[in-house]
Amino acid sequence: MAVINGFGKVYFDFGAISMLGDACKELGIKRPLLATDPAIAGFGFLDRAREALPSDIRASEIATLPEHPTVEGVEATIAAYEANDCDGFVAIGGGSIIDNCKAAAARSNNPAPLEQYVGHPEKIIGPLAPIIAIPTTAGTGAEMTQGGGIHPAHGKREFGIGSPLVRPKIAICDPELTLSLPPRLTAGTGMDALGHCVEGLFSPTINPVVDAIALDGINRVVTYIERAVNDGSDREARWHMLMAAMQGGMAISKGLGIAHTMSMTFSDSDLHHGALVTLSLPAVINFCADAAGNDKMDRLAHSMKVAGAGDVAEAVDALNKRVGLTEGVRAMGYGSNDLDQLSEFAVDCWFNNTSPRKPTRDEMREIIIEVLG
Ligand SMILES: [Fe+2]
Repeated sequence: MAVINGFGKVYFDFGAISMLGDACKELGIKRPLLATDPAIAGFGFLDRAREALPSDIRASEIATLPEHPTVEGVEATIAAYEANDCDGFVAIGGGSIIDNCKAAAARSNNPAPLEQYVGHPEKIIGPLAPIIAIPTTAGTGAEMTQGGGIHPAHGKREFGIGSPLVRPKIAICDPELTLSLPPRLTAGTGMDALGHCVEGLFSPTINPVVDAIALDGINRVVTYIERAVNDGSDREARWHMLMAAMQGGMAISKGLGIAHTMSMTFSDSDLHHGALVTLSLPAVINFCADAAGNDKMDRLAHSMKVAGAGDVAEAVDALNKRVGLTEGVRAMGYGSNDLDQLSEFAVDCWFNNTSPRKPTRDEMREIIIEVLG
């Protein structure tokens, strides 16, 4: 049976951050915790969020979160939330900050340790503190999703927690905040959005509404990502890339696939999640194409603007190179060469459950070898 859910409310356009006060009032938030990292605070986005709040809303802040979300960062966030008697989160940042706040929201009504909720969404009991997500990258779509990845410690492989209760209640998508993203991050995050749309489309979960969103997102990425990478001030390209990222977040409501299994497998490094996903994508598309079926592959080819289904994987590879992702995972600096350990982890990764084709251990090993390069 098809189960078709809606998504949270989204304010979307240049200047949308000015809606933060309204968003807080809609959710009854009077004492938000603004959460971000030092780099984003340095861009002035924390100031802009503060300025968007009326005087009767008393905001507190934590602006020291790490670049990759860690259990320590989550615990620091919930400690700041409780110490300031807050009643909601405003996550200002990329997927890392938004995921950090999802985990902190889970902790707002549930005890530590966080690890006990992995694979057990039913253990996350509400009511939870509401989240308003303000993405500053165009890629993860975390503003739309109900899960997030957290590292037990810096340099350790991440684990996922998820629950419909942690999905942001409101997303404020302001392309203005993405104008200063450097080219490499624009490429990595933007191609992550492509990966979300492709893996969401490939998922056998029946949801034609979300399939249409995924195909539209794919078309936006292939149309606009090079413009956004080559000229960060291209406002039209930035608008469409942020829209594609949001659509990718919707697409993965159907589930993810093997490219995200690869990113989890290599997540015990500092390599960028989106780069790992998109460098894995050509091998994964080739592996899954027959199982995905002719109809999906033909529609994917059309959205990718290539002649036929057989051209899709090569087109992703070529696009990776055109946006500057020219190296394989090994050349980017991934250290482990323990193929047994890597394939043992990867074959059991939960993302494979929504792949149209589940690899055996030997097949996973072959995919890993190809992706490492
Ligand atoms: Fe991703």
